[in-house]
Amino acid sequence: MSTPQASSSSHNQLDTKAEAWSALFSEPMSDLVKRYTSSVFFDKRMWQADIQGSLAHAEMLSAQKIIAAEDFAAIQKGMAQITAEIEAGSFDWKLDLEDVHLNIEARLTQLVGDAGKRLHTGRSRNDQVATDVRLWLRGEIDLIEGLLVELQRSLVEVAGKNVDVILPGFTHLQVAQPVSFAHHLLAYVEMFKRDAERMLDVRKRVNVLPLGSAALAGTTYPLDRERVARTLGMEGVSQNSLDGVSDRDFAIEFTAAASLCMVHISRLSEELIIWMSQNFGFIRIADRFTTGSSIMPQKKNPDVPELARGKTGRVVGHLMGLITLMKGQPLAYNKDNQEDKEPLFDTVDTLKDTLRIFAEMIGGQVNPATGAKEGGITVNAGNMRAAALKGYATATDLADYLVKKGLPFRDAHETVAHAVKLATQKGVDLTELPLAELQAFNPNIEADVFDALSLEGSLNARNTLGGTAPVQVRAQLAKHQARLG
Ligand code: ARG
Repeated sequence: MSTPQASSSSHNQLDTKAEAWSALFSEPMSDLVKRYTSSVFFDKRMWQADIQGSLAHAEMLSAQKIIAAEDFAAIQKGMAQITAEIEAGSFDWKLDLEDVHLNIEARLTQLVGDAGKRLHTGRSRNDQVATDVRLWLRGEIDLIEGLLVELQRSLVEVAGKNVDVILPGFTHLQVAQPVSFAHHLLAYVEMFKRDAERMLDVRKRVNVLPLGSAALAGTTYPLDRERVARTLGMEGVSQNSLDGVSDRDFAIEFTAAASLCMVHISRLSEELIIWMSQNFGFIRIADRFTTGSSIMPQKKNPDVPELARGKTGRVVGHLMGLITLMKGQPLAYNKDNQEDKEPLFDTVDTLKDTLRIFAEMIGGQVNPATGAKEGGITVNAGNMRAAALKGYATATDLADYLVKKGLPFRDAHETVAHAVKLATQKGVDLTELPLAELQAFNPNIEADVFDALSLEGSLNARNTLGGTAPVQVRAQLAKHQARLG
C-alpha cells in the first residue's frame, strides 16, 4: 500500500482507498481490515447503475454550471471506456478501493484527470450507494414482473386443458369436495397475480431518488435534483436528506414481497411433490427436473420442487437479516448498511431462478420446430378421478340435496353422516347404495339423487362466482387469458 497522501491536481491516480480520503491517516489498514470492510467483490454487480447515476449527476452539474461542459464531456468519454472494459472483463477491480463506487471513480480519474475528480462534487458515497441500490433493484423488479407473468401463463395454459379434469379437493389434507384441476391451478394464478401487484407497489417506493442528500445534510451546491430524477426515470426525489441516505425500508419491503412469493412457490412445490408420489400418481414432472437415487434404482426424486421449498427458508432468512440490520440504527448512514447487499442480491437471484424454472417445469418449453410448448407436467386424469371417487367427496352434495327437499341444513348434515357410516361399513361409495337404502334415511330422496352425487353434478352445482363449476372456471380462465395476453 502506498503512503497516504492528500490528492493534488498533479496526482491523478487513486490506487488505494487511503488516497481517496486525506493525509489524516497515519497508518495503513491491515489486510484483514481491508478484506473485512470492502464490498467491491459483491457490489461490483451494480456497476451499470453506478455509471448511470454518475452520468445523470454529472449532466446536471454541467447544466447548473457547477462543472464545465468540457468536464461533463470528459466524464462521458471516460465512463464509455470503463463500460467497455467492464463488459470485456478487463477492468481491474481493486480490493484496496473498497467498493464499486471508488473503483469506478478512481479509474475515471486515471482516464480523464481532473474532470474525474470533479464528478464527486455535491455528492457523497452515502447518497450514491442508496441511489445505486434503488436503480439496480428497479431493473430487477421489472425482470421479476416478466417472470411472474410467464409463470402465470404456464399455469393458465395447463389449466385451459384441464377444466373438466376432476380431483379431490382437500381440507386438512383429507378428501373434502371434488374440484376441477383447472380451478386448483388458477388458485396459484391468483397468488402470483397478487405477488406481481405487490412488486409493482414496492417499485413505486424503490423508484425515488436520494442523490443530492449528499453525506447526510444536503449540499452547498445549487443542485437540480428533479432534473437528475427525470434523467434516471425516477418518480420523485427523497424529501429529507437524513432519511434518503439511511433507510433501507425499500429493500426490506422488496424482500418481504419476495418472501411471500416464495411461500406461494413452496405451497405449490409441496403439492407437486405429493401429487407425483406413487400413492397419488396425479401428475408426472419431466425427467429433467428430477434426479435418481444412487442406491434405489426405481426412484425419481422431485429435487426441483423440494429445493424451491427449501430455498423459501433462505429468502425468508434474508428478510429477517435485513430487517434486523435496520433495527436500532441511529440517523443517518451507518456502515451497517453495506450488509444490505448480499441478502438482497441473493433474494433476487433465488427468486428469479425459481420463477424461471417453475414456469418451464409446469408449462414446458417451446419446441422451435413446432412452435408448441412441450415437456411440462403430465396430468393423470384417471388417477385424479379415482381419488375423487374415494373418501365420500360428494357427501356435502347429498346434504345440499336434502336441504332443497326442505330439511334444515344441520339435520341434513346429520342424516348424511349416518348414510356415510353405512356406506363405510359396506365398503361402498354413496352412489353405490341402492335407492331404497338411501330412502330409509329420508323418504324424500328420489332417483335424481344420483346426479347430485356424481362428481360432475357436484362441480356443476358450485356455480357461484369463484366456485369450481366448469362454467365459472372457464369465465376465470378467459379473464386471465385476456389479462396475460
Ligand atoms: N460500500 C458502502 C455501502 O455499501 C458505500 C457507502 C460508504 N459510505 C461511507 N460513508 N463509508 O454502503
